Amino acid sequence: MATTRHSPPVAAGEPIGVVEAPGREAAAELLVPRDTGHVGIVGATESGKSHTLKTLARALARQGAAVLVLDWEGEHSDIASHALEPWQVRVPVLNYPDPRRVVEALEAALRVHGDHYSLSPLMAQLLAKTLARTRRRVRSLVEELEKLAENTPRADTRTSTHALLRRLWALQPVLEQLEPGPDKKLDPASPQPGKIYTIDLSGLTPSQKKTYTQLLATHLQANKQATTLLYLAVEEAHHTAQPGTPLEQLLLEARKKNIRLITLTSHPTPLHHNQQTIIAHQQPDTESAKRLAEHLAPEPRAKQALTKTLLSLETGEAIVKIGASKPVLAKIKPI
Ligand SMILES: Nc1ncnc2c1ncn2[C@@H]1O[C@H](COP(=O)(O)OP(=O)(O)OP(=O)(O)O)[C@@H](O)[C@H]1O
Ligand SMILES: [Mg+2]
Repeated sequence: MATTRHSPPVAAGEPIGVVEAPGREAAAELLVPRDTGHVGIVGATESGKSHTLKTLARALARQGAAVLVLDWEGEHSDIASHALEPWQVRVPVLNYPDPRRVVEALEAALRVHGDHYSLSPLMAQLLAKTLARTRRRVRSLVEELEKLAENTPRADTRTSTHALLRRLWALQPVLEQLEPGPDKKLDPASPQPGKIYTIDLSGLTPSQKKTYTQLLATHLQANKQATTLLYLAVEEAHHTAQPGTPLEQLLLEARKKNIRLITLTSHPTPLHHNQQTIIAHQQPDTESAKRLAEHLAPEPRAKQALTKTLLSLETGEAIVKIGASKPVLAKIKPI
């Protein structure tokens, strides 16, 4: 008798949905393994990305991975073992012992705000010097730089200090939240296996969310202990994981540190070659469906069919490709 079961792409793991196989009666569960590699969740508005993240986070945590969700809209605390506010997370940027490390972290956070926010060599030098001789608090740092701008006899130092201050003001609200204090509940560099942490960023401005995200990424890259497998989930990846950012660096290198990135985006950003798992919900337009089909199935005939499917998926449906397996059509489980 011919089998009616459609074989799932992965043989062992936790279910996140059901494989939909046209013409077959009994569908197989869609399993995700403990280590999916980096994950890209893409799809139009309201196509089911956030919901899929919840289902996926639970399946990964059940297998002992830690999951840290940078919750842009404050919609994920329902899946959290620990629902945190931004200031409850220990990312002591200004307190890194080596001032050059602090400068690097701040430069990386500034980069996402545009080229006009970068630090000149003189600004970086002034910042490192001032850090070395002030209390590592953003207020002290700003006050010290204001004094310098007022008292220096050198015009170039004055101009650069003013420019540096303008950049620091952009980072100040986030740096203040990250200053050491008694209320820290999570060291993201050593999370507990099997836990889901959410950080509610909904009270921050878009620019503060980006700053927070990059500072956390830099911190993980430098300090994450390799023992626990950690998934870091970030929304709006088209704004946060661009080339040259600490998040992109995590995509490139973080497997060594046992960090996997889960990016969510509604924009047709090119997928990263290092993303082994793709969950593609309904696409907003033909252009992005085509690009995605190219990534998922390079053969011309499969590509055409896939493009069509990607445009007609219903909410919660997705084309899922896990690791080296073939893409399958699946319905993601309700949480
Ligand atoms: N697999 C699913 N099963 C049942 N309901 C779902 C599923 N996926 C999504 N939904 C429902 O569809 C709606 C939109 O889903 P969701 O918020 O996840 O979309 P989104 O792609 O994240 O949207 P946005 O672009 O606005 O962030 C929600 O009400 C959600 O509960
Ligand atoms: Mg969403």
